[in-house]
Amino acid sequence: MEDPWQKAYDFAVSVAKKAGEVQFLTLFYLFSTHFIGEESVAKGEPCILTDKPTWIIDPVDGTTNFVHGFPFVAVSIAFAVNKQLEFGVVYSCLEDKMYKARKGKGAFCNDEPIQVSDVKDIHKSIIISEHGTDRSPEKVTKIFSTMQKILCIPVHGLRGSGTAATNMCLVATGAVEAFFEIGIHCWDIAAGAVIVQEAGGILLDVDGGPFDLMSRRMVSANNDVIAKRIIKEIEIFPSTRDDAP
Ligand code: IPD
Repeated sequence: MEDPWQKAYDFAVSVAKKAGEVQFLTLFYLFSTHFIGEESVAKGEPCILTDKPTWIIDPVDGTTNFVHGFPFVAVSIAFAVNKQLEFGVVYSCLEDKMYKARKGKGAFCNDEPIQVSDVKDIHKSIIISEHGTDRSPEKVTKIFSTMQKILCIPVHGLRGSGTAATNMCLVATGAVEAFFEIGIHCWDIAAGAVIVQEAGGILLDVDGGPFDLMSRRMVSANNDVIAKRIIKEIEIFPSTRDDAP
């Protein structure tokens, strides 16, 4: 008779091996480096970007999707040195798409080079925005008012996958022209930031100023024409910085 538990047993052995490899690599690589992650910050660890080599990690970007079985969930891993992002990796697990980019070396999806779209006409664009996690009526009103204004420019469509990391990769592949949000965290966007830039796109603050990873506000776009047109419509509301004391 076939052993009913052999598969489960083999699975446990392979998972233990993989977990061991991850622990080994983690100890090896994290020994002299700094770490910022959604879970560590939730535990009360500091969220300060210093000049030290720093991992910026979200193991599950799209937590609400994950809980509900909505099929977009990503792992987001970025690495910064001297406050500059060196590389980013986003794995969109259910689609089995591995996005990656190193500064100055291009961006890839499953090892194929990716490039932002060349659309400059806002009317031909698809824009992604998210509702975020804050449900205070004043903020929700501003978020929806911004979305309404952008939709009525008019643009071709508004979308949202429920994971910021995946949204940025969609900008990087040219599937959409831009993604913006106020209220995101550095671990949601750090890896995507490298991928968008290496795919030829740009990052700006929602007021048109320079992108600041710790500010919790960002516009990522295929080019500055699209970015600036969207920025005109964004109703900015206050959000506490990730590195606020
Ligand atoms: C969230 C997702 C979502 C974005 C939220 C994030 P989480 O990350 O990236 O798309 O709108 O602002 O907090 O909580 O699922 O890791």
